[in-house]
Amino acid sequence: MSTEFEELQELASADARDVYSETVIDHAMNPRNAGIMQDADGYARITGPCGDTMEIWLKVSNDTIVDATFMTDGCGTSLASGSMVTEIAKSRNVDEAQRISQQDVLDALDGLPQDSEHCALLAANTLKAALRDYLTMKREPWKRAYRKY
Ligand code: FES
Repeated sequence: MSTEFEELQELASADARDVYSETVIDHAMNPRNAGIMQDADGYARITGPCGDTMEIWLKVSNDTIVDATFMTDGCGTSLASGSMVTEIAKSRNVDEAQRISQQDVLDALDGLPQDSEHCALLAANTLKAALRDYLTMKREPWKRAYRKY
């Protein structure tokens, strides 16, 4: 069983460059926006069919995403997907961000191997769920008292 570190080392190897784009390797090795956000305006946590979990936190001002962070216990490609989806979401308004799809994440990463494409879906779905959470909290702010983040 390989550790996450070994997995990342594998991603950085010469052979990996035949399989993964430079953008994927860069975002897996140097993930942007990784970490927990306190006082988030939107939050979601989804576990995909593969068993990996992604969490996304959003800071929203005037219906524009001013900050987005993520965490995942998944593989290198899920790290790259979380990194990229939060990068794409930042500075978008909520309506635009709701339209960010798996394909948008794949395009921005210059593609993923077919058996890793679901990592981009997990990232896009977690973003959408965090946006729904933001909209729910905006409509029913009292629910915030029952939320962990
Ligand atoms: Fe599960 Fe990538 S293998 S999200």
